[in-house]
Amino acid sequence: MKSYVEESGFFGKENPEELAEKYGTPLYVYNEDNIRQHMKKVAGVINKYPYRANYSMKANSNLSILKMALEEGLNADAMSIGEMILLLKAGFPADRIFFVPNNVAQEELQFAINHNIMTSLDSLEQLELFGSLNPGGKCSVRINPGIGAGHHEKVITAGKKTKFGIEEHDVDAIFEIAREYDLHIVEINQHVGSQYLDPQPFLEAVENFLRIAEKFDELEYIDFGGGYGIPYHKLEDEAEFDMEDFSKRFTALLDAYVEKHPDNIPLFKSEPGRYCVAEGGVILGRVHAVKQNYGNKYIGTDIGMNVLARPTLYDSWHDLEVLRDGKAVTEGERENVYVTGNICESGDLLCKDRNLPVIKRGDLICVLDAGAYGFSMSSSHNSRPRPAEVLITKEGTAKLIRKRETYEYIFSNLVED
Ligand code: LLP
Repeated sequence: MKSYVEESGFFGKENPEELAEKYGTPLYVYNEDNIRQHMKKVAGVINKYPYRANYSMKANSNLSILKMALEEGLNADAMSIGEMILLLKAGFPADRIFFVPNNVAQEELQFAINHNIMTSLDSLEQLELFGSLNPGGKCSVRINPGIGAGHHEKVITAGKKTKFGIEEHDVDAIFEIAREYDLHIVEINQHVGSQYLDPQPFLEAVENFLRIAEKFDELEYIDFGGGYGIPYHKLEDEAEFDMEDFSKRFTALLDAYVEKHPDNIPLFKSEPGRYCVAEGGVILGRVHAVKQNYGNKYIGTDIGMNVLARPTLYDSWHDLEVLRDGKAVTEGERENVYVTGNICESGDLLCKDRNLPVIKRGDLICVLDAGAYGFSMSSSHNSRPRPAEVLITKEGTAKLIRKRETYEYIFSNLVED
């Protein structure tokens, strides 16, 4: 069996066992080169026309990673005041931030208006509220084109069964509200869903969106959303998202639009999150107990659903490697096991019935592809402090980029009588 972390030199000059001892487990470890390479790829998807990729920071909002996105020339999108604050703190100028919320309070829209951050409105009511707060202003509307895609029904963010966006059929109502508040709809945005390796649904959605764009006459930006996938089954050689082929097919669709509007070419945008950071992050966790339960073997680790929620939420697959004395175990006997965490829920499983090298107490488990929607969706469920995050820098050495939470920190808001 191959080892991704060893073949890719993921830990640079560091030894994973020493990292685990120094910083403790569970531990998120990121690789700067890997993340920057992915960011460069998304930044270069369209070269022929004005184009910007927005890093969708919900995937990973560590300040060091946001700064990389800024340096790699990406814009960024935010879902909340918290995310806007972090982007401003990372140094993003307001005109490189896009606020794409849904169902937000007046204060959140006001925050974006006060900071001159372009905002997308996700419903007619939110558009009306925005108009009343910012008459004469510019904004975007999120359209739900009725087509969705993604790895699980919970991450399909367009189509007929989701809460997102305004139906195409309500375009006239958008114009009516815009007239009432003298709003300029200078952008339309969509996001069909997350984690597809076949770009076909995205490209169909692009084509359809360009047709919808024809209905708007003040467009400065058209934002097609994100969702480019990564190979979560990389140990079995699953193919990567083919950026080159995607880029060609995406450009061809834009050609057709530009031909019709040669004097009015908008800035085309996309919003990838996962693609930028997923493969550049792993989790190191320690095996604390191994046991048999009614015929199944359970490997008990400290990587609970509080550390990585994706397998519990979406039954997501993450490849696992076993590390012993700092080296990947790639040979020897294997067996089928359930790898679990230390949380009091039976859904607290990293995998079921997975064929892995025989694991012993004290081994390290390395969860691959955990850079996206890993730490950002972690919690302190069961009153467990959230993990530390370490970056393997371009120089190949480890740098702490987020401290492990302390008990004092997680209890600090409790109010005692
Ligand atoms: N733009 C918008 C408006 C979005 O809603 C999302 C993701 C993105 C961009 C970025 O999508 P990406 O390129 O990262 O696929 N927690 C789930 C993924 C939820 C994605 C929700 N929206 C997971 O762990 O798979």
